[in-house]
Amino acid sequence: MCFSCFFGNPVFVPAPNIDTIVSLAKRRGFVFPSSEVYGGLGSAWDYGPLGVELCNNVKQAWWRWLVYERDDIEGIDSSIILNRLVWKYSGHEATFNDWLIDCRKCKGRFRADKIVDNKCPSCGASDWTEARPFNTMLQTKLGAVADDDPTALAYLRPETAQGIFINFLNVQTTMRRKLPFGIAQVGKSFRNEVTPGNFILRTREFEQMEMEYFVSPTAEHSKLVDYWVEQYLEWFATLGVNRENLDLYEVPNQELAHYSKRTVDIMYRYFPEREKPWEELMGIAWRTDFDLGIHSKNKLDAEGKRLNPDSTEDLSYFDEAAKQRFYPHVIEPAAGVNRTVLAVLMDAYSEKTNDKGETRVILKLSPQLAPIKAAILPLAKNKPEIVGMAKAIKRSLQPVLRAVYDDTGGIGKLYARQDEIGTPFCITVDHQSLEDEAVTVRDRDTWEQERIKVSELAEHLQKRLKPFPVPESI
Ligand code: GAP
Repeated sequence: MCFSCFFGNPVFVPAPNIDTIVSLAKRRGFVFPSSEVYGGLGSAWDYGPLGVELCNNVKQAWWRWLVYERDDIEGIDSSIILNRLVWKYSGHEATFNDWLIDCRKCKGRFRADKIVDNKCPSCGASDWTEARPFNTMLQTKLGAVADDDPTALAYLRPETAQGIFINFLNVQTTMRRKLPFGIAQVGKSFRNEVTPGNFILRTREFEQMEMEYFVSPTAEHSKLVDYWVEQYLEWFATLGVNRENLDLYEVPNQELAHYSKRTVDIMYRYFPEREKPWEELMGIAWRTDFDLGIHSKNKLDAEGKRLNPDSTEDLSYFDEAAKQRFYPHVIEPAAGVNRTVLAVLMDAYSEKTNDKGETRVILKLSPQLAPIKAAILPLAKNKPEIVGMAKAIKRSLQPVLRAVYDDTGGIGKLYARQDEIGTPFCITVDHQSLEDEAVTVRDRDTWEQERIKVSELAEHLQKRLKPFPVPESI
């Protein structure tokens, strides 16, 4: 069946809300509510067979873009549980707080900064307790110790960044790096969020892709923030995120984190149906020399006292050209894997409805991100030669790209199933294939079909799964 026969003049509809994505994600094996067999666990999600591929593809795209394709960034993978002193000196123990208030009428508990018009979101009352701080680092205990042994207390990291700062000197000296250079890390972080929610947007366990870019104290820091904002806007475009659905938020001074002199948030339109549709996708912060200084044994305060009497290292840098020692400043682009995945899914989602009101979902994922790159579909599943050829093609493609074989329905149904999960190419093997050693390659977005020789198939597909554009190094 051709495109126009089924659809006439199709109307493309983007995802109207997050719920549409939640339903697709569960139906098609991207994301499942966690611990469902025990009634679930609030705001925890498990990534299914397609979801884990999508997350991996996002993380790989990010890593390739920064660590492989640039010349100035190294990667690392630090521990999730670090010495508690890291969190003492980073300021997280004292300041990583949400401000809580309780509604005296319904006893609901909320984040004070999320209350609109002073009204309780549950019951509408305006009778609040005093706001009090609540530290959102998740705690654990190390070793076989008594419950009340304070020396065993440890935290699950609330950001990956600190693991980078405490390894600054290790990376710089072993890789013989000169400024400016960056260190990238991707991994899980944990926050005991007071009000998690909105699917994978805000959870207590999530993944971050953070990069700390170390520069001289005399660099043009604000311009570097702008530079990284631009770089990320371009990168999101390569993932298929529409520029119109992104916005920039210059964080006002009174909202800046204790380490930041300037932060710009890249916002995504996660709530197209709401009056306030934007929520943070990532942030780009000028963290000054705060982190390297605070973890260093030699850094002194204004009165000449050591800022950190517990540190055994000095994380300063000696600039050979200027013959100067200093603590580098940091520009930090910090993105969330899960929020990126959600933005990618929302922008890839499209519904096509024909004149008869028939609707199909097509997930227009960027081919690099698609969980499955090619589906091999035999046109006659009762013909052993055709089935054998289709399975052999699947096996031959598998080492270079993720391919699946499917014969569990008619061809129209199989196409629709692959469109809905974003598979860029469907490859049909038919009677003619046995004669001419060629197959039909169908494009997900245009539904155009072309005949390709089996011997040229892998190269043909790889060419169309183009790599990401390479950003220029500074
Ligand atoms: N190191 C700086 C830092 O962690 P952040 O703005 O708190 O900055 C960076 O976090 C990114 O991590 C956010 O923009 C968001 O994408 C993601 N993120 C933070 N908290 C999250 C949560 N509870 N659930 C999902 N993603 C989260």
